[in-house]
Amino acid sequence: MSAPNKSYDPVEVEALKPEEIERMRDEALAAFAAADSLDALQEAKVAHTGGTSPLALANREIGALPPQAKAAAGKLVGQARGAVNKGLAARQVELEAERDARVLVEEAVDVTLPYDRVPAGARHPLTTLSERIEDIFVAMGYEVAEGPQVESEWFNFDALNIGPDHPARGEADTFFVQTAPNSGSAAGSGTTESGVVLRTHTSPVQIRSLLDRELPVYVICPGRVYRTDELDATHTPVFNQVELLAVDEGLTMADLKGTLDHMVQSLFGEGMKTRLRPNFFPFTEPSAEMDMLCYVCKGESVGNPDRPCRTCSSEGWIELGGCGMVNPRVLTACGVDPQKYSGFAFGFGIERMLMFRHNVEDMRDMVEGDIRFTRPFGMEI
Ligand code: DAH
Repeated sequence: MSAPNKSYDPVEVEALKPEEIERMRDEALAAFAAADSLDALQEAKVAHTGGTSPLALANREIGALPPQAKAAAGKLVGQARGAVNKGLAARQVELEAERDARVLVEEAVDVTLPYDRVPAGARHPLTTLSERIEDIFVAMGYEVAEGPQVESEWFNFDALNIGPDHPARGEADTFFVQTAPNSGSAAGSGTTESGVVLRTHTSPVQIRSLLDRELPVYVICPGRVYRTDELDATHTPVFNQVELLAVDEGLTMADLKGTLDHMVQSLFGEGMKTRLRPNFFPFTEPSAEMDMLCYVCKGESVGNPDRPCRTCSSEGWIELGGCGMVNPRVLTACGVDPQKYSGFAFGFGIERMLMFRHNVEDMRDMVEGDIRFTRPFGMEI
């Protein structure tokens, strides 16, 4: 029988020999140093600190030691495990920093590179401006109304109280549309009695709106119109107008004025206003020419030679278009009782507004379709 193992030496337990423990520690540290990625480090971590790692197994051996040997062995293994955990954490930090630095380089975006080699098109500024005007009125509860560009004379003239002798009906201004050959008695004579024209203004949409809709009517009507003008810097045979019509009980000229002021303030900014000058249109009574304050000099160039204004030629005001209270004869033509209802209307050209709003000097630029003209407006939505 052997004597009781009083002087048990942990060194004799192979796994707990100091040099063995040191070897395990150094192997772990070497494996961490050799790990060149976070994934590799994860593997080394499992191998050297996991439940079946040499140091974990050595730690388990301690339990089998006699009590007097446990403390020294525990200290030895504990220190080694501490060093391993520290080494692991340090390598983890290093590898994370390397990864972050690499990601910054690899995923860097050069914001100065052109985003697309095919230049994007741009919406035409006439469209943008006309939509902007529509939006102002839609926000006030108006509806957008449209009508045909090939229009009957009745809508374009008669219903608007433009009699057969009115100069605007003459061939000097109006494109008459000839229908099928031999269908009219005047065929071949150079005139047409088709009764069909290319609309000369957007005002016929007033009539269509009154006939189509329930009262009250609040509509804004943008659209293309035609006149027999030669194309030059200030004329084009095809251009765009915006028409407004409000018919309700109790509308007055004050409502018209307030509406116009609101429109120019929305388009050109605070402090803008309009002024009305007496005029004549067959479809409004009374009628007025509407001007807006020059949005550049705000009227300050008037009588002030030191501060001339190119936009309004130092007049202080810019002519916008025509307006007035809907003529009772127009209401009657549409079956609306002028004793009960009144209305106001206005109409103006968008090309002209675009010209002074953006200093476009030649109207031909707006119709020729050169993208060098439209592209600078492309950012405006
Ligand atoms: N239709 C007119 C034109 O083309 C413009 C106009 C004037 C429209 C007065 C209106 C208005 O609605 O009330 O010259």
